[in-house]
Amino acid sequence: THQWRGIIEEYRDRLPVSDTTPVVTLREGGTPLVPAQVLSERTGCEVHLKVEGANPTGSFKDRGMTMAITKAKEEGAQAVICASTGNTSASAAAYAVRAGMVSAVLVPQGKIALGKMGQALVHGAKILQVDGNFDDCLTLARSLSENYPVALVNSVNPVRIEGQKTAAFEIVDMLGDAPDIHVLPVGNAGNITAYWKGYKEYAGDGVASRTPRMWGFQASGSAPIVRGEVVKDPSTIATAIRIGNPASWQFALAARDESGGFIDEVTDREILRAYRLLAAQEGVFVEPASAASVAGLLKAAEQGKVDPGQRIVCTVTGNGLKDPDWAVAGAPQPVTVPVDAATAAERLGLA
Ligand code: F0G
Repeated sequence: THQWRGIIEEYRDRLPVSDTTPVVTLREGGTPLVPAQVLSERTGCEVHLKVEGANPTGSFKDRGMTMAITKAKEEGAQAVICASTGNTSASAAAYAVRAGMVSAVLVPQGKIALGKMGQALVHGAKILQVDGNFDDCLTLARSLSENYPVALVNSVNPVRIEGQKTAAFEIVDMLGDAPDIHVLPVGNAGNITAYWKGYKEYAGDGVASRTPRMWGFQASGSAPIVRGEVVKDPSTIATAIRIGNPASWQFALAARDESGGFIDEVTDREILRAYRLLAAQEGVFVEPASAASVAGLLKAAEQGKVDPGQRIVCTVTGNGLKDPDWAVAGAPQPVTVPVDAATAAERLGLA
C-alpha cells in the first residue's frame, strides 16, 4: 500500500499537471542511489550511482515519458512519434500502451541495441528504420509531427525535461542537499538540461543550499559539444549517445557554464573499461552509454581534476540488459559439465 507512486504523484506540485490531468504512469522514478565503494576509493571522494536502469522500461526516459504521454493524452492526441537511439522508443512504446495510443518510432538503421528493438516491437510500436543517423530521424520526426496528427515526444518537447528533472529532486531528497558534482553522459543533451533545471529549482526554493557543478561526457566519435561543431557521421559503440547534432546543445552549454562545470569526451575504450568496472566491482550492470559518466569521472580523477572529499553523483542512465552483446563479447565461454558434483566442484575451483 505504500509503494512509490511515480514521479507525477510524488512531485505533483513541481510539475505542469492539474487535478484533472489523466496521469499515465508505470510508477517510474524512485530509483536507487547506490554508494559506489570502489569508485569512492579510487577518487578519494564519496561517489554515488543514480541507477536509472531500475526504471520500468530500463532507462531514465520513463521520467520524461510519463509526462509527455500524460500531456499528449490530456490534449487528446491519439498517436505519438519519436526519433530514438533506442531507449526513448522503448519508453514511448510502453507508455503509449498504457494510454491506449498508437506509437510510431524512427530509429537509425542497424544502430540500435537488440533489447531496445525488442521492447518497441513487443509493445506494438510502428517502427521505421531510417537510412540515416539519429539526427536525421529527429528531423523526420519533427517534420511528421508538424504536418500530421501525431504528437512529438522527444526531449525537444519541454514536458519531457520537466519529468526528467525529478531525478535531481530525488538525489537532494535522499542526500539532504545537492552533491558537489553531478556527472552525466551526454547525447541529445536533454538529460543534463533537465538535471540542471531540477537542481536550480530546489536551490531557488531553499530545499537545497546550493547547486552542483555539472560534468557531462560525450563519446569521442560523437562529441559535437566538445568540438564546437556538428559531427556529420557520429560513431561510437555506445549507440545510445551516437548523436552528432544535439537538440539541447545550447541548454547543455548553459548548464555547464552556470554551474561552473565542463563537458569533455571519453573514448570507447574508456567507456568499456568503466562498463566492466561497474559490473565486476560495483555489481551494477549498465549499458555502455551509461558508463560514459563513470569513465569521465575516472578520466577527470586521473587528470587531477577531482579534489578529494567531495560528494559526487554519477547517473547511470540505462540497464545493461538493453545491450548484452558487450557483456558477452570477449568473455570466456562457460564450460559444460555432466550432472556430477565432483566434476562441478573441480571446475569451480572448490576442490
Ligand atoms: N544514456 C542513455 C542510455 C541514453 O539512451 C541516452 C539518450 C543518453 C544517455 C543521453 O541522454 O540524450 O538526454 O543527453 N538516448 C536517446 C534515445 C537519444 O533516443 O533513447 P541525452
